[in-house]
Amino acid sequence: MTASPSSPFDPGVDSGPELFPDFFKHVGQVRAIRRLRPDPVPRKMLEQVLQAGVQAPSGQNQQPWKFLVLEDKPSKRWFADHYGAAMENRFGLSRDPAKRSGKKIGRQLRAMFYQIDHLHEAPVILLVCGERDWPFKVPEPERVGLAPPNYGAIYPCVQNILLACRALGLGAALTTMHQVFDEALSAQFSIPDDYGVVVAIPIGFPLGRLGPVTRKPATTQTFFNRWGEQQ
Ligand SMILES: Cc1cc2nc3c(=O)[nH]c(=O)nc-3n(C[C@H](O)[C@H](O)[C@H](O)COP(=O)(O)O)c2cc1C
Repeated sequence: MTASPSSPFDPGVDSGPELFPDFFKHVGQVRAIRRLRPDPVPRKMLEQVLQAGVQAPSGQNQQPWKFLVLEDKPSKRWFADHYGAAMENRFGLSRDPAKRSGKKIGRQLRAMFYQIDHLHEAPVILLVCGERDWPFKVPEPERVGLAPPNYGAIYPCVQNILLACRALGLGAALTTMHQVFDEALSAQFSIPDDYGVVVAIPIGFPLGRLGPVTRKPATTQTFFNRWGEQQ
């Protein structure tokens, strides 16, 4: 077992041995992978990924997640068409490749265009659904209509799923644009009113390289004892 690097907050102090070898290396390698091969994801792998998801914590251990796996062609086509239309309407990302030519675009935008064009070919589009539940701070009289899905419990589950995909060499990207066509989505796939789709994750073997994320270091994002005070 190798010793972990010194804490960035306290250079010079060794934070002790790593109990999960290479965890700190791998946790920084979970990038959004939007270019996927159409080759199927073995069912066993998908089960492992979802089994990692359900290890997540949830309030009172209620485990308010359900998974809807889109893998047949018409289902994926329906989702991809609606996702593409939503991206076009909200962000002006044209679905017509001819209208994109001549524009200089960055790496992430190129990947998003690829995703829009090929989403229907993703072997799996995983819908992670959360049971609806009012947040504590919403008082009883204000609880009208449908409660939001339990985001707080679903996101740890989603991060476990993304980590598991990375561990198995699968590419995955967290997406939320389905919120724009939420009602149609629930109607299309018979999702009952007491659940909402929180995240849609296309999953498959990656076309390109898996690589490290680019993030600000925790040291610049952290205060001690009072907001604004850094060590
Ligand atoms: C709450 C949330 C919503 C996101 N929604 C989308 C989305 O709708 N479409 C998409 O392509 N990526 C989406 N992402 C992925 C981010 O764009 C991505 O994580 C970020 O740009 C950093 O890129 P990286 O993870 O590859 O380093 C979302 C991420 C989060 C956490």
